[in-house]
Amino acid sequence: MEKINVALIGVGAIAESTHLVYLQQHKNVTVSAIVDLDIERVKKVAEKNKIKHCFTTIDEMLNTITLDAVIICTPNGTHIPIAKKAAEHGIHVFIEKPIGTDLEEVKEYLKVSKAKNVMTMVGMTHRFRRDVSIVKEYADRNTFGNIYYAKAKLCRRRDTPKGWFTNKDLSGGGAMMDTGVHVLDLAWWLMGQPKVASITGKTISGLGNYQTKYVSSWESQNKRLNGNHIFDVEDFGAAWIRFDNGAVLSLEIAWAMNGEQDEGISIELLGDKGGATLTPLAIYKEEEGTLVKSNPLFETNDAFENEINHFIHCVQTKSTPLIDGDQGYEVLKMLQGIYESSEKQEEIKFKN
Ligand SMILES: NC(=O)c1ccc[n+]([C@@H]2O[C@H](COP(=O)([O-])OP(=O)(O)OC[C@H]3O[C@@H](n4cnc5c(N)ncnc54)[C@H](O)[C@@H]3O)[C@@H](O)[C@H]2O)c1
Repeated sequence: MEKINVALIGVGAIAESTHLVYLQQHKNVTVSAIVDLDIERVKKVAEKNKIKHCFTTIDEMLNTITLDAVIICTPNGTHIPIAKKAAEHGIHVFIEKPIGTDLEEVKEYLKVSKAKNVMTMVGMTHRFRRDVSIVKEYADRNTFGNIYYAKAKLCRRRDTPKGWFTNKDLSGGGAMMDTGVHVLDLAWWLMGQPKVASITGKTISGLGNYQTKYVSSWESQNKRLNGNHIFDVEDFGAAWIRFDNGAVLSLEIAWAMNGEQDEGISIELLGDKGGATLTPLAIYKEEEGTLVKSNPLFETNDAFENEINHFIHCVQTKSTPLIDGDQGYEVLKMLQGIYESSEKQEEIKFKN
């Protein structure tokens, strides 16, 4: 198969540790360029990884080289403006989660990308986990029947990041936008992507800039972006989402809280024929009239590697990705519904 030319935009924490590694390992990929605001960093990473071109803006790159695809790993609020420039040049786009922060901006981008036949994939990494794939296969085979309720949560005790993540202008929101997006997407996808009917949500900055001793934190690789110490987002959020098929999703997310911590995304799916939990993975169903719980055995995989390989495969075969731009838009619509409901202190209804 012909090699494809890919550029990585934003070589911060996640891009250097995962995207770049798996792109470099892929036999059908040439990492033609990397782009980052931070000139020193971009030069260093390019040199270390023997990448031919490095730039500080996407415009400079688009005026200099030709590409098949870009992978965008910049702060959330910059995803769509960058993606739009790539799409206008007919370049396929992988956008890290969340797809963007502004629904109208995303809608406009999707119009442009579709007109240019540009494929969009959103980085919902957890969909590529082996245990998640197993639950999805059971769901698709209708093992659970009608899924009428799901409970999804990821609550950490002290895991609030520093830097641009707490600055709403760059992040679009706090815990909901950062980790909630994964949890919401995963539960919604396993439920069969029903259409949202209404949302009641509450987001709170419960602990804010805590001074707790003996806990670690994480931050952006760009020290300049970290410099402002703005904290105008939530560190806790909860929502009750009703879908037009009658199903309900209950969601709880915390970067920080005074309670028991979830070790990973926790999901409970209740159907009229069966159910499932993650994590740990368990399947519940009746066999010969008896209720049975089973724990499928599996080898774990590297979800990031599978995700990158999937994107490259979709570019090469011109196929639709597992999570495309329209699905990314629907997830952002629900996140924005949670924020709107919290602000207005009322239920938000959606017309489908
Ligand atoms: N899928 C996942 O599980 C996962 C995990 C971590 C982060 N992410 C997402 O990846 C993105 C990046 O997160 P991170 O933790 O690597 O952050 P980071 O701040 O460490 O990296 C972002 C990089 O983008 C650069 N940058 C900022 N604005 C830019 C612009 N306009 N043009 C070019 N470069 C620019 C910064 O200099 C920085 O090096 C976020 O959207 C985050 O939500 C996803």
